[in-house]
Amino acid sequence: MSNSDNNQILKNTNAQILDEFNASVMFDKELYSQDIKGSIAHSQMLFEQGILSKEDKDAIHNGLLQVKDEIESGKFEFKIEHEDIHMAVESRLTQIIGDAGKRLHTARSRNDQVATDFRLYVQEKSLSIKEQLKEVINTFISVSQNHTTTLIPGMTHLQHAQPINFAYHLLAYANMFKRDYERFESSYERNNYSPLGSAALAGTPHNINRESTSKQLGFTSPTINAMDSVSDRDFALEILFNISTTMMHVSRISEELVTWSSYEFQFVKMSDEYATTSSIMPQKKNPDVPELLRGKTGRTYGNLISLLTVMKGLPLAYNKDTQEDKEGVFDSVKTIEISLKILNEVIKTMHVNIDRMNEACKIGHLSATDLADYLVQKQNMPFRTAYYITKDVVAMANSLNKDISELSIDEIRNSNEQIKDINDEIVMYLDLKSSMNARNSFGGTSTKQTEKQIEILKDWLKNK
Ligand code: ARG
Repeated sequence: MSNSDNNQILKNTNAQILDEFNASVMFDKELYSQDIKGSIAHSQMLFEQGILSKEDKDAIHNGLLQVKDEIESGKFEFKIEHEDIHMAVESRLTQIIGDAGKRLHTARSRNDQVATDFRLYVQEKSLSIKEQLKEVINTFISVSQNHTTTLIPGMTHLQHAQPINFAYHLLAYANMFKRDYERFESSYERNNYSPLGSAALAGTPHNINRESTSKQLGFTSPTINAMDSVSDRDFALEILFNISTTMMHVSRISEELVTWSSYEFQFVKMSDEYATTSSIMPQKKNPDVPELLRGKTGRTYGNLISLLTVMKGLPLAYNKDTQEDKEGVFDSVKTIEISLKILNEVIKTMHVNIDRMNEACKIGHLSATDLADYLVQKQNMPFRTAYYITKDVVAMANSLNKDISELSIDEIRNSNEQIKDINDEIVMYLDLKSSMNARNSFGGTSTKQTEKQIEILKDWLKNK
């Protein structure tokens, strides 16, 4: 091979690598439907404004629908040389309808085009994730309805603290998912503005009507400053943050499911469908599914930090760096979509071991605080005095190898001189269920309050 042949090959290879490096079509093809929708709206507006003839507009619309068909049926051939989804669609359109296709890009730049496509995608996904969250909240509510009297140790520092009911614990998560829903909702509202018509960065001399495209695409109104509109990716950062926060909640309940399904706890058993076996230890049933939910949370944080970092040093307006905004968002969206689906099923199908939860409540003197509270309320004792008396009762229980809720009235009276005549109703106060129900303050764990919380959530869901 001659030297010049060699150089030619090197040049070709370099060009190819460069094209591959520069191109986004292999991932931004995800935006094909938004791109086509945006182009239909844009060409419709150009026609309304007398910039495009009716024949050209009709040809463009029909051609775009054909391109859409080809993509959806798998006939469309995506090529690196088209660089991105916008060029790929336009060049195929021009192939199909001829010169009219070349008029589509009048008064538009890929900068406002990509900002519009991506925003449409984020908006659509915010709506569908909201729907999924509603389903998850619904599932937490329906499982809760069966467990408003099921005792479970309420913990702080992962140590037994006070008896609560299992529904109350699940409803804590339902409330987190409710806030997540509201975050997607407020982001949607804040970002529902159309960048289309911003053109490259400074607007356009053509007599366009941005209200028209904004309306056609379901936006509230056009964005105000073209320069901001082509370089802003706050909307993408918001969905990444909203997904990360939701996944953090998914991860926390998953962590609890892993703990609760351990031999030491045995509070819940994953349904067989959602547990896996070990390839070497035949006796094992592993909580791979909640573990994976917990693990997948990591990549959603990564995607958020990654885009924040891409954006931090960018001068106005558009810079190619922004092309790096998409893959992380696609990945986070896919991650949360599958995770919420799986979490929903896991919660729906888990087996709750009521007896084990109840047994666990008898460890750790969960109702000890109730004795102190009783002495304060009924005997007007200073809390600190009551606290020390209660310590003696706990010591008595320990010496008898019992839980405080299992002591007889005599055993209680013998624990400390100051309560030798205590009313025998105290036994009832130390009962675990009464202890749970005693916490009847608004937002508390009593069955009554828990039922109220279910009603509040149900009412909220009704209006969503
Ligand atoms: N593929 C590009 C992106 O995702 C589209 C915008 C390109 N605009 C440009 N002037 N190079 O950001």
